[in-house]
Amino acid sequence: MAKITIVGAGNVGATCANVLAFNKIASEIVMLDVKEGVAEGKAMDMLQTTQTLGFETKIKGVTGDYAQTADSDVIIVTSGIPRKPGMTREELIGTNANIVKSVVGTCLRYSPHAIFLMISNPMDTMTYLALKATGLPKNRIFGMGGILDSSRFKYYLSQALNVNPAQVNGMVIGGHGDTTMIPLKRLATYNSLPVSGLLSAESLNKVVADTMVGGATLTSLLGTSAWYAPGASGAYIVASIINDYKRLIPSCVYLDGEYGQRDICIGVPAIIGRNGVEKIVTLDLNNEEKALFEKSADSVRSTNKVLKEINAL
Ligand code: LAC
Repeated sequence: MAKITIVGAGNVGATCANVLAFNKIASEIVMLDVKEGVAEGKAMDMLQTTQTLGFETKIKGVTGDYAQTADSDVIIVTSGIPRKPGMTREELIGTNANIVKSVVGTCLRYSPHAIFLMISNPMDTMTYLALKATGLPKNRIFGMGGILDSSRFKYYLSQALNVNPAQVNGMVIGGHGDTTMIPLKRLATYNSLPVSGLLSAESLNKVVADTMVGGATLTSLLGTSAWYAPGASGAYIVASIINDYKRLIPSCVYLDGEYGQRDICIGVPAIIGRNGVEKIVTLDLNNEEKALFEKSADSVRSTNKVLKEINAL
């Protein structure tokens, strides 16, 4: 029996709630939004699918009433504005930082034992902000990005290979930004066969480039940020937390010396279970990958610096 709160009933938050209910992952979901009626309406709409889709999850939508989120096991933060075509995720910091900070602080008062999953962008920086602002232990706040970027990597790989996407494996580490993420092409496989032996260097590099702007491509098609894969990615992580599945999931976690980095939240593979981030897994990166990771960390750090400039930290 797990209670999940989703703050922000926009496209990503609502999709996440829908997947959590439809896949019977959560028994109780509270969606909270600041826009009058939106969370209530989406909850009502979803509840009217209980029989046709066959689930019994309780879903409640509330406008700003944080008391309804009390004693949640997991809190997913999607608050803030999404990017519009032509924007980077980093450009959202000025608007989203203070929203995210206040949301996390208020949720924590009502759910002192919750694990926080950050989705708001710029996600690496919002995760860092939430961690620093609350002072929570690093296992209890982490961000969703790597799993989504990895899904896009696997999608583009399957298209290039023209094979069943369910048999393609690959991981993206580093920041969740168009220029900061690192699709690990050396380690990607098609049913255990290294894809580097199946695709030309040119087409593998194109897969990497397409993956990096995967979110931006969707934003320009949709006129706003994507939601099906981001929402499903959030639900996949929640399932691993509440069922203690201990899935290995590339996640934005606080590094304290791992990968040669300190005092930063950035994407690396981690075991996710009932205690949140249970273990950071260290990959044996080659020199090229190490250099890319360092560059990615530098770039995330420069966005983190803005938090001080705007007095969010
Ligand atoms: C994306 C947003 C959720 O990548 O960051 O679609």
